Amino acid sequence: MSETIISYRQVTKAFGSNRIYRDITLDIQRGETLCIIGGSGTGKSVMMKMLVGLLEPDAGEIEVFGQSIVGLKQRQWIDIRRRVAMLFQGGALFDSFTVGENIQYPMIEHKWGDKLKREKRVSQVLEMVGLGNIEHLYPAEISGGMKKRVALARAIAVEPEVLLYDEPTTGLDPISIRRINGLIRNLQEQLNVTSMVVTHEMPSVFTIADRIAMLHDQQIAFVGTPEEAKAITEPWLADFIIGGEGVLDEDR
Ligand SMILES: Nc1ncnc2c1ncn2[C@@H]1O[C@H](COP(=O)(O)OP(=O)(O)OP(=O)(O)O)[C@@H](O)[C@H]1O
Ligand SMILES: [Mg+2]
Repeated sequence: MSETIISYRQVTKAFGSNRIYRDITLDIQRGETLCIIGGSGTGKSVMMKMLVGLLEPDAGEIEVFGQSIVGLKQRQWIDIRRRVAMLFQGGALFDSFTVGENIQYPMIEHKWGDKLKREKRVSQVLEMVGLGNIEHLYPAEISGGMKKRVALARAIAVEPEVLLYDEPTTGLDPISIRRINGLIRNLQEQLNVTSMVVTHEMPSVFTIADRIAMLHDQQIAFVGTPEEAKAITEPWLADFIIGGEGVLDEDR
């Protein structure tokens, strides 16, 4: 039986005169992986930031775990942030903390295990993202792709029920991309984690998505399975999918 875990209802958002969406409605079910696609600036990151309390909708309702999150007090966010982790587009590591301290940060915040258990968990999640013993290094000492994977390790460390991945594989090498996509699927299959994934890479979308939602023209212009997406011939979706797969480049 499906259980709605995230629900956007007629959400409207603008920044000054820059209108992002009008009345968008979308439900995400427990255990599914939903990919959000759409052009740059269509509000993909904003959709996620509203789920962790960094931004608020101007109108409409958002429910997480059946609870309205609009207008929550700071204190009330603590429980939600433990259950919903976000991997930020830029990684957002603390530069003055080592990799290990960065990963432990949310664990300490949410009182996850004792020191020994946390240290074990750090090596475990680093292993999961394909990084070896780099706990002692500082962000300045590792590559951009590694930072991205450390941020991912930090997001999964506290075993959240919902993971919001904002472009988890952008800029990574093909092997890392495959590994991260595999990790997203494993978390879903083994722990029934619910995921929202923003990505511009259509091969990744077709590897991991149960459903795809596309933001276009201030609306969720499409929501459906990858198969359904492929069958749509309207250019705003078809060009996106084909262009993203690199087919156009080969045809040229
Ligand atoms: N805090 C903010 N203040 C003002 N404008 C903002 C803010 N956050 C986002 N915006 C604007 O909202 C729009 C959507 O931003 P968002 O970051 O969600 O885009 P995106 O779809 O994630 O794009 P990209 O693919 O480039 O990451 C953009 O026009 C952006 O400039
Ligand atoms: Mg973005």
